[in-house]
Amino acid sequence: MSLTPQFLDELRSRTLLSSLIGKTVKLQKAGREFRACCPFHNEKTPSFYVNDDKGFYHCFGCSAHGDAIRWLTDQRGLPFIDAVKELVQAAGMEMPEQDRHSAEKAERAKGLHEAMADAAAWFTEKLNGIEGGEARGVLERRGIRAETARDFGIGFSPDSRGKLKEALKHYGDPALIEAGLLISVENKEPYDRFRGRLMIPIRDARGRTIAFGGRVIGEGEPKYLNSPDTPLFDKGRTLYNLDRAQAAARKAGRVIAVEGYMDVIALAQAGFGEAVAPLGTALTEHQLERLWRMADIPLLCFDGDAAGQKAAIRAAHRALPMLQAGQSLAFVTLPEGMDPDDLVRTKGAQAFEVLLREPQGLADRIWASELAAEPTDTPERRAGLKKRLMALARSIGDPDVRDEYVAEFRNRADALFAPPQREFRPRQGGGTMGGGTRGGYNRAGKWQPPEPPPSERARSVHAGGLDPILARAVLAGLIRHPAEIARHMEVLGSLRSASGALGKLFEAVIEVALEDRQLDSARILTILARSGFDQVAVDLLRADTLPFSFTKSQMVDEVRAREDLKEAIEVMVTQPMVDAALAQATAVVAEHFTEDAFARQVSLLQQRQELQARLANLMLADEEEFDD
Ligand code: UTP
Ligand code: MN
Repeated sequence: MSLTPQFLDELRSRTLLSSLIGKTVKLQKAGREFRACCPFHNEKTPSFYVNDDKGFYHCFGCSAHGDAIRWLTDQRGLPFIDAVKELVQAAGMEMPEQDRHSAEKAERAKGLHEAMADAAAWFTEKLNGIEGGEARGVLERRGIRAETARDFGIGFSPDSRGKLKEALKHYGDPALIEAGLLISVENKEPYDRFRGRLMIPIRDARGRTIAFGGRVIGEGEPKYLNSPDTPLFDKGRTLYNLDRAQAAARKAGRVIAVEGYMDVIALAQAGFGEAVAPLGTALTEHQLERLWRMADIPLLCFDGDAAGQKAAIRAAHRALPMLQAGQSLAFVTLPEGMDPDDLVRTKGAQAFEVLLREPQGLADRIWASELAAEPTDTPERRAGLKKRLMALARSIGDPDVRDEYVAEFRNRADALFAPPQREFRPRQGGGTMGGGTRGGYNRAGKWQPPEPPPSERARSVHAGGLDPILARAVLAGLIRHPAEIARHMEVLGSLRSASGALGKLFEAVIEVALEDRQLDSARILTILARSGFDQVAVDLLRADTLPFSFTKSQMVDEVRAREDLKEAIEVMVTQPMVDAALAQATAVVAEHFTEDAFARQVSLLQQRQELQARLANLMLADEEEFDD
């Protein structure tokens, strides 16, 4: 058996050199290359480089140099043929039977590439001809400009069983069948696979057309008809738009994985050339590796529906064993019912850019999804949550990253389930507020379990997610009406743990009040100023311009001011809890739709609206403001 240069080329291009070498040598990313201390000679500072694009390694110290095969023969000491066999297996290829056979195959592949290129050209010709009127209308309605369609080589396949076959007949039926352009059924003449569809060419990393996705014009099933796997096309190893996105990703410093062809095309048109898509399946390991070659933290931006979110979490799980220090995934969540195409079309590129800037990290994503998966209202269920999280963390291959995840999840679970300190609970009859409720006996004397507490994130929102204007008004109100501090001590105490400047300020005000029961406003301001809050004190005095009865310097109706302040405090502390519970309920619904979960989401939405109405009620109308 001998191996043709074509076969070896194919083998090299299907092998990711850095992951091969990375199995035994610790590689560090260095720009577009990887760097390490040379495994062929003894050195302390790294001069050994691996270049995936070129497919070779090189040591500037000892001049060791070679490709994937050479690596296995020189570093692992394998005989040449065994090295090839190992790579062939890893790449999912097959050893050529015999010389003649493989040469023929390479020749055929060349023919197939030509046939695909001709087919693509023919489809675009049809799109631009008389038959393509309806298809052009579809593109126009979707807001796809002619030059975008040209850039992506979009075409149209007429609704006929034999026109493409006729146009490409010099290739012969067997080649066209092998290329997936014709369908062959027993006892029938082979016929055109794509009929009456908008044709989207799928290209390999080198820009050669290797398959098509055909979208039905209007409604119909299947929405997309794709090429079958062929000698040129392996669905799980291809990313749509990879060839064009590579350069754009380098420039943008990021890569975005979306679900659909149309998303990629619409994003490119909106200026996001760095988007790619898998081909209607979950992201494979191979596709993830491809993404990581373009950026350390690829952004996954799947559709805002349940299926999209499920796909995102599947990708998250699949990525865990492959994580490396500094190499992760992040998730961009779209408004419900939207895909990236809808978003840029209706809300503009800027809206998408804003979402891209604040993606959710992988650890956060996994935590949130496990937390939403099951209730955590019993010790058994809480143990179940921990167990699931630990199993996921332990699936991480890299020991350093694994340790970090184990610790992170453990800390979060401990913080979530630790007994709360001086925690405020809203006075709520039904106890359906988002802060979770204590268990207790209902009127019939039956024990009722507490509501599950909101997620860790929710809790920190509870502490840190205060509406800043309202919180400022409340502080100003407390300073104007110091006697009220004692009355609300318990509630205010729960805000001491709040992070940020506002939390510190609440804490300071309480400290002052605890020390001195004979407070007046001027004295509080003096003490605050002395504790380094002087700018804040000035600000709070300006709060006189806020539209509340309790922030006014001269309010005739002292009783009303106090009642309003009490109401404002209640809204202020309840709102973040409801928001957090609502966020969690929304995540639960997205993860797994049930009537119950949906009802909870709706009820929380109503609660939020009620709070907003209560807040609106507190605000003084303009004429009222001038009254005082
Ligand atoms: P979508 O239905 O989200 O596609 O499927 P889309 O790109 O947003 O399409 P439009 O906007 O309705 O035209 C996502 C991807 O799943 C694959 C395709 O790759 C598609 O782009 N898919 C979908 C199929 O392969 N077959 C189908 O029938 C549907
Ligand atoms: Mn779409």
